[in-house]
Amino acid sequence: MIPRIYIPGDSGALALGAEKVAKAIAGELAERGIEAKIVRNGSRGAYFLEPMVEVATANGRVAYGPVKPSDVKSLFDGGFLTGGHHKRWLGTPDKIPFLAKQTRLTFARCGVTDPLSLESYKKHGGLNGLTNALALTPADIVAQVTESGLRGRGGAGFPTGIKWKTVLDTAGDRKYIVCNADEGDSGTFADRMIMEGDPFVLIEGMTIAGIATGATKGFVYVRSEYPHAVAAMNKAVEIARKAGVLGASVLGSPYAFDMEIRVGAGAYVCGEETALLDSLEGKRGMVRAKPPLPAHKGLFGKPTVINNVISLASVPIIMDKGAAFYKDFGMGRSRGTIPIQIAGNVKYAGLFEAAFGMTLGEIIDDIGGGTATGRPVKAVQVGGPLGAYFPRALFDTPFDYEAFAAKDGLIGHAGIVVFDDTADMLKQARFAMEFCAIESCGKCTPCRIGSTRGVETIDRIVAGIEPEKNLALVTDLCNTMKFGSLCALGGFTPYPVMSSITHFPDDFKPAPVRVAAE
Ligand SMILES: Cc1cc2nc3c(=O)[nH]c(=O)nc-3n(C[C@H](O)[C@H](O)[C@H](O)COP(=O)(O)O)c2cc1C
Ligand code: SF4
Repeated sequence: MIPRIYIPGDSGALALGAEKVAKAIAGELAERGIEAKIVRNGSRGAYFLEPMVEVATANGRVAYGPVKPSDVKSLFDGGFLTGGHHKRWLGTPDKIPFLAKQTRLTFARCGVTDPLSLESYKKHGGLNGLTNALALTPADIVAQVTESGLRGRGGAGFPTGIKWKTVLDTAGDRKYIVCNADEGDSGTFADRMIMEGDPFVLIEGMTIAGIATGATKGFVYVRSEYPHAVAAMNKAVEIARKAGVLGASVLGSPYAFDMEIRVGAGAYVCGEETALLDSLEGKRGMVRAKPPLPAHKGLFGKPTVINNVISLASVPIIMDKGAAFYKDFGMGRSRGTIPIQIAGNVKYAGLFEAAFGMTLGEIIDDIGGGTATGRPVKAVQVGGPLGAYFPRALFDTPFDYEAFAAKDGLIGHAGIVVFDDTADMLKQARFAMEFCAIESCGKCTPCRIGSTRGVETIDRIVAGIEPEKNLALVTDLCNTMKFGSLCALGGFTPYPVMSSITHFPDDFKPAPVRVAAE
């Protein structure tokens, strides 16, 4: 058997030098006259260990990382093709603590399989969910998804089954499945990882959604900053089509389903579902007023399911193992697992899939290992640029939609960005308002005008001009934006602003006091 070497082609790993490592390994193999198969797998998500190279040995996989091109010669000298010891030796990947502590359902194959091998996909449980779904009625598939407790992973946490049922129950000569892969939230990369590392799972999930709701066409709307994900998805769709997974007769069934990948032009607001639909239709991305809901009148005015990548990619495992299996994980009304993305100033950055319910403190301190700088954690922003900043005092909050909402926070797409004690929360509050001003689609006044006035008012606080009066003005403005905005961009910008003011009041004191305090 020729040796197999796994070197991630994931763009996070590439950014950390995986391509150079791959070239060095290929060069060394040629020089030593060794025949080996190099597989460009996805990433397992332990980015602090990337580029993580794995070799398949008689005793299973052995990992090495983070590998530098300069390590390659000595890796060969140390017999790494048979799992030999080396300073980069990590042992069995599944036993690396960061990976061993996870519950991998949605990401079970990511970093393990060859992303573009349908054979490899099937060997690891791929297409079981679709096969099971084909034996059910659309209503029964929807019932399974509802029963699993799956909620949208894009941000709003809306029950996926209820959304699907609305589309199933809405008459239409054409229906669509739209996958939201805009992934605009700061510190998030779960969608990208799945699309690059296990694209067939998304194709399978979208196909199940199509069969369940009567939709025959799907679109994946991917942000332009994800060229590797776009390439992987396009190739995977082609392979799935050739293999009869997609097309006029899905796996030989009477159901038809096909899909296309579309690339956005780069606007945060185009992640909002109705702006996304406008953009997909070739218009400028502007938020639409609801009703009508996209489920009734969505893409090109037709009934449309719009779901996040992870929501759709979680469906195959539900249809494979059953709703009860999935529902068994989690807490309260947050069922199943969630791929938490730990980023920012943190020691062990990466993707950590776990059942809902871990506390924020466990995630930051135990899993993330605290800050990369070694300084105390001051704040963590959960849920992207519209998420609240939580201080250490709130680290006992369990990762659960309702628990976060109860503390004026949100889980969003489960991205966590960590800040150490050098962060200035007044600057972060200003940044939130500025971000909103730049990204606002301009349709409604509280967001379009409010965010600009917000930046100006915070600037007055920074300059020490009537700080108390201006702080009260910002609070008042936040209330107007929260309750008067048409969508969550204007409606949630108050979360990072108000949480900064509430939890870090010292940072909002007039400049001389702030300097003295520092
Ligand atoms: C400004 C804004 C940006 C958003 N960006 C995204 C995004 O990048 N990806 C995403 O899946 N949902 C995003 N959403 C949420 C979507 O509007 C929508 O709720 C989601 O795609 C529905 O899918 P789900 O039910 O599977 O979560 C955004 C919402 C707003 C208001
Ligand atoms: S809140 Fe902002 S982004 Fe949303 S509709 Fe209003 S102006 Fe557009």
